[in-house]
Amino acid sequence: MRAVVSAAPVYAALARRELDTVLPIGSSLEELSAGVWLLSTRGSFADRTAELSRTVFVRHCCPVSAEVPFAADSPATLAAELLPAALGCLRGVCCVQVQVRILPASRTLSPGPLAAHLRAALNGAGVHAVGGPADLALSLVITDNLAFLGCSPVKQNLSPWPGGEARLRRDPAEISRAARKLEEAMILFRVEAPPGGRAVDLGAAPGGYTAFLLARGLQVVAVDTGQLSSGLVGKPGLTFLRGPAHGIPLPVGPFDLLTADLSWDPLRAVECALRFRPLLTSGAHGIFTIKFFGGDPLNIVARARRRLEAGYRVLAVRHLFHDRDEATAHLRA
Ligand SMILES: C[S@@+](CC[C@H](N)C(=O)[O-])C[C@H]1O[C@@H](n2cnc3c(N)ncnc32)[C@H](O)[C@@H]1O
Repeated sequence: MRAVVSAAPVYAALARRELDTVLPIGSSLEELSAGVWLLSTRGSFADRTAELSRTVFVRHCCPVSAEVPFAADSPATLAAELLPAALGCLRGVCCVQVQVRILPASRTLSPGPLAAHLRAALNGAGVHAVGGPADLALSLVITDNLAFLGCSPVKQNLSPWPGGEARLRRDPAEISRAARKLEEAMILFRVEAPPGGRAVDLGAAPGGYTAFLLARGLQVVAVDTGQLSSGLVGKPGLTFLRGPAHGIPLPVGPFDLLTADLSWDPLRAVECALRFRPLLTSGAHGIFTIKFFGGDPLNIVARARRRLEAGYRVLAVRHLFHDRDEATAHLRA
């Protein structure tokens, strides 16, 4: 089995350490670009990605069932060159999302036009190829002169975005970039925000998460030692508790969602999430940021995960596209 595996370039070395731990002996990784490898291994794609989903720094994985050398430098010509291999990957598939990733080595091409030309060519050949979400993805990873193609259920790719690069639209009115971090986490972990439900947001200031949750119809109790953005003051559905998450009197629950993005020692932040645990409904989701603060990230994540397990099921810890020196845990009460 061959696949393209991706991580953030800045955390490539840690992803590589994790890959060496989870992949079967005899697997090989050939670097295609910083944080991107061509993996050759045994077993099925589904089995391997199930293991990779337990890593923190591997963001995306897509299968390779065809490798096509090309010389074309226009998206239209390249799409035409790739069509036979694409159709070969899609035997029996009627609807597919075309996902294109161009590695930095081949900057002359861009993904949007190539995907559009390939979709048109596939539609002409009787495959319903779409740009938006679908259950199956046709993944193309393009280097200087090679195209890697494969088809898989999007769910098995570790991320719905090519390469795990969640390029979410920026809201001009957003209070902080953190809102996109929460949006990415909620899509990746498939967390629904039940309209009318209640969320508690620890380390809420200046208010990106809180504004995002309010806009989705949740009532929010926001907790921070600092001040929320003035634009949020008096918003319907918002209660602001100013004080430390580890010490303020606990608000009245229950809550359907806990978010915590505390810029604090990660293990002390974990204690805050545990302190609020009794206020959560059974099955409530938690999105918890583990800040690295200069320590060994894998060690910090392992310690935080163990302690979180005192109160939560930890379903995943992943380094998101919008994470900086931090990772995001998906918790279930
Ligand atoms: C990265 S910012 C949070 C950004 C926020 N999620 C947003 O969307 O705008 C971290 C926040 O954690 C708060 N914080 C750190 N330790 C805290 C504690 N023990 N209790 C409450 N807030 C804390 C800081 O005051 C800071 O506002």
